[in-house]
Amino acid sequence: MCGIVGYIGKNQALPILLDGLKRLEYRGYDSAGVAVKTADGVFSAKAIGKIVELEKKIGEIKSPFPCPLVPRSGRRAPLLKRANTGIAHTRWATHGAPTEANAHPQTDCQGKIWLAHNGIIENYQELKTRLAAKGHKFISETDTEVIAHLLEDLYDGNLTATLIKVLKILKGTYGLAVLHRDEPNKLLAAKRGSPLVIGLADGEFIIASDAAAIIRHTKQVIYLNDGEIAEISDRDFKIFDADNNQVDKNVDQIEWDQAAAEKGGWPHFMLKEIFEQPESIANSLRGRFMAEAGRVKLGGLEGVAERIRQTNKIIIVGCGTARLAGLVGEYMMEEYAGVPTEVDYAHEFRYRKAVLDEQTALIAISQSGETADTLAAVQEAKEKGCLTLGVVNVVGSSIARETDAGVYSHSGPEIAVASTKAFTSQIAILVLFTVMFGRQRQMSLATGQRIINELIALPDKIRQVLALNDEIKRVAEKYYKFKNFAFLGRKYNHPIAFEGAIKLKEISYVHAEGFASGEMKHGPIALIDENFPSLVIAPLDSVYEKNYSSLQEIKARGGKVIAITTAGNGKIKAAADEVIYIPKTLEMLTPILVTVPLQLFAYQMAILNGRDVDKPRNLAKSVTVE
Ligand code: G6P
Repeated sequence: MCGIVGYIGKNQALPILLDGLKRLEYRGYDSAGVAVKTADGVFSAKAIGKIVELEKKIGEIKSPFPCPLVPRSGRRAPLLKRANTGIAHTRWATHGAPTEANAHPQTDCQGKIWLAHNGIIENYQELKTRLAAKGHKFISETDTEVIAHLLEDLYDGNLTATLIKVLKILKGTYGLAVLHRDEPNKLLAAKRGSPLVIGLADGEFIIASDAAAIIRHTKQVIYLNDGEIAEISDRDFKIFDADNNQVDKNVDQIEWDQAAAEKGGWPHFMLKEIFEQPESIANSLRGRFMAEAGRVKLGGLEGVAERIRQTNKIIIVGCGTARLAGLVGEYMMEEYAGVPTEVDYAHEFRYRKAVLDEQTALIAISQSGETADTLAAVQEAKEKGCLTLGVVNVVGSSIARETDAGVYSHSGPEIAVASTKAFTSQIAILVLFTVMFGRQRQMSLATGQRIINELIALPDKIRQVLALNDEIKRVAEKYYKFKNFAFLGRKYNHPIAFEGAIKLKEISYVHAEGFASGEMKHGPIALIDENFPSLVIAPLDSVYEKNYSSLQEIKARGGKVIAITTAGNGKIKAAADEVIYIPKTLEMLTPILVTVPLQLFAYQMAILNGRDVDKPRNLAKSVTVE
């Protein structure tokens, strides 16, 4: 996600802020900015792209102050010496494309209050409308800018007290760093749902969304809890809870080195991203429910709601893992919305002669939004008059821009080549599409409500599955020397069998194939012997008995079986060699829960085989050529 750095102390803020931003580069971002307080006001610069662009920009800006802020050829500007408070940000676009106007820090009408924000403000639209009616001028498309204007609107001469009031009005998540031009020696930090750490060094404090930006200066840190606000001066700090009561905090000692800190202490980005899924799914869904009405609110589709109503056929396209999410979508759309749906590889779709017309909607799924084949499929469908919709993670990417409308998956930057959290978010977004299409057609209020309630419960259930990591590691230890694996699933989990297989082969280079369970007896079962284990996905759903039969057929041929089933299914233990349990959920949502142990299995297998998990050979994160 985005990165925040803030500084207050005895040294010049700007170089420390820029260095901090560089330490957060690994997180992925598409624009950056800083704001530092000087004797004459606030100096701010922003740039699209990398931190070096921001540095160039700072060098180029004609300083509004009597002497240049950035010292050239070693000359230290006296003014800069006094610029010892500042905030900085790397932005990974969520609301509005990566532009300078949308980059942080954001400010109010008068350029007095400056802030950097991570997270999503759900009620920003209504706040923006209200503030605009009072005369506030907005220059960005961000949700963040409303916080600055709201602070301006309620400002009573004390930024801390005003921030406490403002935070009560905001819905959603935030990590915040805030300063006021006219309040000397004060830097504020606040947290709800988005990490924020305060580093305590000698005569200086560095706040950051991530310890990686702090570790060079100090290993003594305070982790803010949700609802807490820190008021920091160059000598001291105070922490308040949401009701303005001062709280005592423990100082923690960071044990990691720089490299480990970038991964938040995780050994690999892939493992970190697997474990981020409770949050990434929550972010994908945040603010998108109308729970009582059993409906969803997808702002990005509002402009084409009428065309969606007219749609009588859906084609979902994508490549790799993204296409597999589409296959889950096909089962959901047909079962719950009654709209005929087909799924194609984007690279096949662009060359075949699909039957398309204006009542066809093409849904393009892509994490990066830059996959060349998927983009070409969108262009082809547009040419034929179809409605084109995107399920894209990267805001402002080519596919996001090319489609008529779409929904961002908000899973945060994914750095490991193997897609994990982006995939589960794509499925979650397709559930939202299904509810939207479904409620316009055959889906009852009760069904809409049931799906939404189950979605709300998903992040906790994912946490329960993640707790099985050690157990899955033990299974991998038994199996990591095998050279071939079959993954079997049926109906909603048929695509997940393919996803389990692709994850295993791409990061561990162990041969694995996904099969529809029912297809085994038509050929693949000939492969099975004691050296060819199978992962059988068999949750307690409408096809459980069928899957159970496939499992027994494999056992009858001497094959080893690792089964994934629903908690409470003790019976399967007698038949399978290993059993992994997932919590109970709606059948249509089991793919999300089943995917998690398969990701962990692939990860553990790759580690045991000594592979470069985050950067597997021959693969690229984003394939921008045909
Ligand atoms: C590459 C990646 C895959 C990804 C696919 C589609 O092959 O290695 O992990 O699923 O591209 O990428 P997209 O960005 O369009 O989702």
